[in-house]
Amino acid sequence: MIFKEEILQGIPSELPEKKEYPKEINRAPKRKDILSVEEKQLAIRNSLRYFPKIWHEELAVEFAMELKDFGRIYMYRFKPEYGIYARSIKEYPANSQQAAAIMLMIQNNLNPDVAQHPEELITYGGNGAVFQNWAQYLLTMQYLATMTDEQTLHMYSGHPMGLFPSSKESPRVIVTNGLMIPNHSKPDDWEKYNALGVTQYGQMTAGSFMYIGPQGIVHGTTITLMNAFRKVLSNDESSKGKIFLTAGLGGMSGAQPKAGNIAGCISVAAEVNPKAATKRHKQGWVDLLIDNMDELITRVKQAQKNKEVVSIAYIGNVVDVWEKFDEENIFIHLGSDQTSLHIPWTGGYYPVGISYEESNRLIREEPDLFKENVQETLRRHAKAINKHTAKGTYFFDYGNAFLLEASRAGADVMAENNIDFRYPSYVQDILGPMCFDYGFGPFRWVCTSGEPEDLDTTDQIAMGVLTKVMANSPKEIQMQMQDNITWIKDAKKNNMVVGSQARILYADAEGRIKIAKAFNDAIASDKIGPIVLGRDHHDVSGTDSPYRETSNIYDGSKFTADMAIHNVIGDSFRGATWVSIHNGGGVGWGEVMNGGFGMLLDGTPEAEIQLKKMLFFDVNNGIARRSWARNEEALFAIKREMERTPNLKVTIPNLVEDKLLNDLF
Ligand SMILES: NC(=O)c1ccc[n+]([C@@H]2O[C@H](COP(=O)([O-])OP(=O)(O)OC[C@H]3O[C@@H](n4cnc5c(N)ncnc54)[C@H](O)[C@@H]3O)[C@@H](O)[C@H]2O)c1
Repeated sequence: MIFKEEILQGIPSELPEKKEYPKEINRAPKRKDILSVEEKQLAIRNSLRYFPKIWHEELAVEFAMELKDFGRIYMYRFKPEYGIYARSIKEYPANSQQAAAIMLMIQNNLNPDVAQHPEELITYGGNGAVFQNWAQYLLTMQYLATMTDEQTLHMYSGHPMGLFPSSKESPRVIVTNGLMIPNHSKPDDWEKYNALGVTQYGQMTAGSFMYIGPQGIVHGTTITLMNAFRKVLSNDESSKGKIFLTAGLGGMSGAQPKAGNIAGCISVAAEVNPKAATKRHKQGWVDLLIDNMDELITRVKQAQKNKEVVSIAYIGNVVDVWEKFDEENIFIHLGSDQTSLHIPWTGGYYPVGISYEESNRLIREEPDLFKENVQETLRRHAKAINKHTAKGTYFFDYGNAFLLEASRAGADVMAENNIDFRYPSYVQDILGPMCFDYGFGPFRWVCTSGEPEDLDTTDQIAMGVLTKVMANSPKEIQMQMQDNITWIKDAKKNNMVVGSQARILYADAEGRIKIAKAFNDAIASDKIGPIVLGRDHHDVSGTDSPYRETSNIYDGSKFTADMAIHNVIGDSFRGATWVSIHNGGGVGWGEVMNGGFGMLLDGTPEAEIQLKKMLFFDVNNGIARRSWARNEEALFAIKREMERTPNLKVTIPNLVEDKLLNDLF
């Protein structure tokens, strides 16, 4: 059966053979065995409703085994035989080009070169699911292949509820992931309801079909480092020869050395797992691999002296590096950490003075002792960082819960008021005020032709547009424009494409709209094929996340989720091709609400109207909320936007004198 026929048949008419689990595939960890016997029966009953009754006897036994062995029912047998990757849009069977674009994006998220656990339909982050099981995938692709531009597919946590009549202007797909009644959103609720097959953790771009591989995290880390250097260097100083010290060369953290090179500094990333460090070295993501402390010290001093741009992986514990650099009086300009402190007791963070192998034994056999060692290490880690910051190092938390876990371990990381941490998070100090509050965020696009030449053309178009916009932009945002022009100039050279032909850059509403319009014009004149626009959820307006994206909101509203909900509703009737809203993502289930969109540009005048309406709202919704929270940069940005756009009327806060409040209570 050819690809198109297989897609069109959905659930096959004959029961497919049971399959061997493919070799060399990174399998998802076994999930918690959390269901009671009655709940396990319910999970099987739920999974069998996708299939005709005559298969139930055979499948019930098989699915019960999956539940026992893996904690979830993935329905491995139903994974299709054809290769899963983003094909050119023309290769998909479809009555709607918009639906074909969504199929392409789904297949990209499940491509084994892109996805972390492809057999379990997990794109990234250990649990970021596109679907809960293969039946949902098959049915969704069938619906997309048969739907028209007058229907909308509603998807509940991977499950395609069905096609409903709508209109050409409506989104083709509405996605929700992990939405729960608020009192039922504890981590174990995810374990339970996911095992029952009724919800899933969509992370951010996994469950919204908008993941583009490691390019996103490299770009985000580069922007963070460039802006962090800006905070500590004077205008005429270069980052060359200046040190950025950090830890971790794993899934996301492996982006740090590459970003360090693009930002133009010396980066030192300690990594306890020799395999992870060697992998990044082999992939060309880090220049040097050093496993000896004396050699590290000599090489770092040489790099400082010669004002080099170089990335160094040190195989060992990062605490040793912080302590030794202090003894040797090596000045660190920037310090951070990207170990996995969101999971400190199961191998996310390794204790100092104990070998990697011995640590892994302790995790399995003596978990309490392991925990004690981790907490002792965190106290030492913070102590060494404090010595450096006393000498002038700028340290920031990079969204990995370092300060949270260090504080829980009793480390000296609290501010004088004993409420705040003594160091900022990267969003509080860098991305929030320098990017999000001005509307700058991770805009991305995918060339649906699959042609690298189309990506080159779009890079050129984007660079031209940003250069023009920058010429007339106020000084407050010139740096952000410049950083992204520099990035897009070198984007091809950095060789970041994995999977679909995709690009990311940070732009504000004006930049995003002008780039999108220029793409639509180029499509209309046949210079390039159709383009999918989207963004990471880690953005200005899409995400309410008090410990990350909205950590620089100080009016008490950071624990509300109105902004994310308004964003997804607002985008949906302004022209998005699909929208999604998720519970969880990034910092954890129950801790964040995040939303995203996808929009197909097809070169038509309708697409031009829609891109202008939707991108304008998608950015300015968040700036309005940030300005109402009294953020100075957002107040500047929204007032500027109101001057340019007479139809925009946003409520502006009146500021109150501190003295008035100090005298009140
Ligand atoms: N800021 C952001 O935008 C952002 C984005 C994604 C992930 N994160 C967070 O960053 C963290 C890292 O994510 P990841 O996917 O790279 O995780 P990962 O587990 O793949 O990598 C972490 C690495 O740190 C190493 N490590 C642990 N303890 C160490 C120590 N004491 N010294 C040296 N090396 C040590 C581990 O061996 C591992 O390879 C997570 O907490 C994640 O939530 C932040």
